[in-house]
Amino acid sequence: MNTTFSGQVGIVTGAASGLGAAIAAKLAGAGVKLALLDRDAQGLAEIHGKLQSDSQSYVIDITDEKQVSECIDTVVAQYQAIDILVNCAGITGQTNIKSHEVSTDDMQRVFDVNFKGSFLLSKYVLPVMLRGHYGRILHIASISGKEGNAGMLAYSASKSAVIGMAKVQGKEYAGTGITVNALAPAVIQTAMVEALPEEQVKYMTDKIPMKRCGSLEEAADMAAFIVSPQCSFTTGFTFDLSGGRATY
Ligand SMILES: NC(=O)c1ccc[n+]([C@@H]2O[C@H](COP(=O)([O-])OP(=O)(O)OC[C@H]3O[C@@H](n4cnc5c(N)ncnc54)[C@H](O)[C@@H]3O)[C@@H](O)[C@H]2O)c1
Repeated sequence: MNTTFSGQVGIVTGAASGLGAAIAAKLAGAGVKLALLDRDAQGLAEIHGKLQSDSQSYVIDITDEKQVSECIDTVVAQYQAIDILVNCAGITGQTNIKSHEVSTDDMQRVFDVNFKGSFLLSKYVLPVMLRGHYGRILHIASISGKEGNAGMLAYSASKSAVIGMAKVQGKEYAGTGITVNALAPAVIQTAMVEALPEEQVKYMTDKIPMKRCGSLEEAADMAAFIVSPQCSFTTGFTFDLSGGRATY
């Protein structure tokens, strides 16, 4: 896969941790020039320092439209193009609670990061991709967006919205050289999962027929394929990464 990405420029959000860091490392290893975005300055500096490639890091809050638009302008000024966008930044918000216990503020916060943040990145990156007649956008969704995880209303609903966005955008840009897809992982051991209540993690892992969590390597490999030039006849689709939990 190394030569296929030659000369390409990519953006990965949530690059300071977990899936975002793993996907960034995979793409950097394949020769993609990278813009790493996260609000966690320290984590981002650590991940950036480990990459042996042409890359820049940008500390931004992806829910802030001005910060997103200025960041994309800076990336374009630096690299002149954007071929790949991986929207990986995300939060769970409160979990292990029933819908009537969900705070409206928390619901809003989760939608702001998971849906609005991914929307904003795609809104400002798409015109750049349209100018280049090429692009690969990958929104990291979740199995909870397909199946609905009890105890995780805000998170599950926000990820359903992300899946809906991939469906819409896939159709809107089909024929332009740009594909837009989503990825729906089940449980992958990261800081996000470590912060969840034990009961909530057990609920999620018990549902995986393979009886194990996915690995960061498996997530990064699949993400790299989805944003590669070879993945050219699939758009608007949500790829599965759930050890058999979702079979549709
Ligand atoms: N780990 C899993 O089991 C799992 C399963 C399904 C989906 N996902 C999704 O994968 C993505 C990555 O999850 P992870 O497990 O690697 O989580 P993580 O907590 O390890 O990493 C998420 C990153 O997003 C960043 N972030 C959060 N809000 C931000 C904001 N407003 N602006 C900029 N950066 C922000 C955080 O600082 C963090 O570095 C998320 O979208 C998550 O919902 C994870």
